[in-house]
This record gives sequence, structure tokens and C-alpha cells, in this order.
Amino acid sequence: MADKTRFVYHGHSNVEIHHGKHVVQLDPFYTSNKLADIKADKAKPHFILLSHAHFDHTEDVEAIAKRTNAMVICNYEMSVYFEKKGVQRTHGMNHGGGYEFPFGHVTLTLAFHTSSFPDGAYGGQPAGLIIELQNGPTVYFAGDTALFGDMKIIGKLWDIDLAFLPIGDNYTMGPDHAIIAAKWLQCSAVVPVHYNTFPEITQDAEVFAKRLKKKTGIRGLPLKPGESVEF
Ligand code: NI
Ligand code: MN
Repeated sequence: MADKTRFVYHGHSNVEIHHGKHVVQLDPFYTSNKLADIKADKAKPHFILLSHAHFDHTEDVEAIAKRTNAMVICNYEMSVYFEKKGVQRTHGMNHGGGYEFPFGHVTLTLAFHTSSFPDGAYGGQPAGLIIELQNGPTVYFAGDTALFGDMKIIGKLWDIDLAFLPIGDNYTMGPDHAIIAAKWLQCSAVVPVHYNTFPEITQDAEVFAKRLKKKTGIRGLPLKPGESVEF
């Protein structure tokens, strides 16, 4: 029996995965994140996974990586960007490619969005992440994205236990499209992310979870910042 994996939500799309002895940080965003329950200097990841370059997903990467020596795993362009900033351990990938890391297997999938750093540097193409945790659950972290038809293929290629889907609308899909996404992905549960951080992405995650259950039978797990769920 595999150990349980714990997913901690820090508001926005900032998620920490505790899997065995590994801590894997997804899209760290603490400093300008009014919902964050902790400060960036409390984060102690071994690996940092990134969906795209926008500040609300990468703001604290450089500081955390330099302090912890965490490996930054992301698309090739972002890996070069962080190398130039002096980050010691990076691993560049690209869409459709997968790689076996100590905690599990990561594949970059498509995301329909944009990707540039706050300083204007090109951030490559945005991605979603499939994370097949070793002897653990399979996670789909959609990143920032619109609904797109290939989510049906992602649902066929992987047996997804837990999907992190944006519901904020305006910059990403909203609740209605996230419900369709969950259906296409055939995932077991959804944690809604990327909402309530900014006025233009205000949503009610409890209402989303109820509608998701009613329309698809899929469990919604609206987490408050600092809360976690085990799988
Ligand atoms: Ni974005
Ligand atoms: Mn974003």
C-alpha cells in the first residue's frame, strides 16, 4: 500500500505536494498573493514545477530555488531564463515530453494561454502538467488555460485521480468550462484554483463544487488557503 500523498493549497494556483520524502511545489506565488497563508521563506520544496512565466506563477521561484537549491522543472525557455538568473538546478522540457524524476513522472501537456515574464522576456509556450507520482496518484495540473478539445485525449491517455482546474474566468476558463473539462478528463476529483486572488476572477468555489457534482458526479474539493487534501 502506497503512502498517502498530501496536497496543500496556498491560494491562487500555488500548490505543494508532499509525497514520501519529496516536497514538490507547483507555481509558487506568495509575495503578491493576498490569499497566501504563509510567506515565501517558509516554503521548502525539493522540486519546483512551473506551468508558465506569468508573475502570478513564478514570482517567488528565484528566491525559493536559490535558498533551497530546489530543481526548477519547466519549459525550455523558462529553464534558460532561471539559469541566467543564477538558479543552479533546472530541467527544461517541452510539450508531449515526459521525464522520470525521483518523485514520479512528469509530462508537459498543452495549455491554451500566453507566457511572458514581467520583464518582457519570452516565457516559451504555456503548459499543463501530468504528474504521475511514484506509487501514488496521477495529477493533472492544468495551469492557466482555456477549455480545449484535446482535454478529451488527455483524459484517455492518463487515468487522472486529481485535477487542478482554473475557475476564475477572465484570464482562464470559468466555472462552466471547468465542469466540461472535468467531464472530458474523466478525473475522480477536482480542486478549483486561480480564483478570488484578483477582483476580476471572483468566484464561489463551493457553488462550483455543488454544480460539478450535480452535472458530472465528480467530486469538487474547494480548499481554503492552508488547507490540504490526501489522496
Ligand atoms: Ni497566466
Ligand atoms: Mn495566472
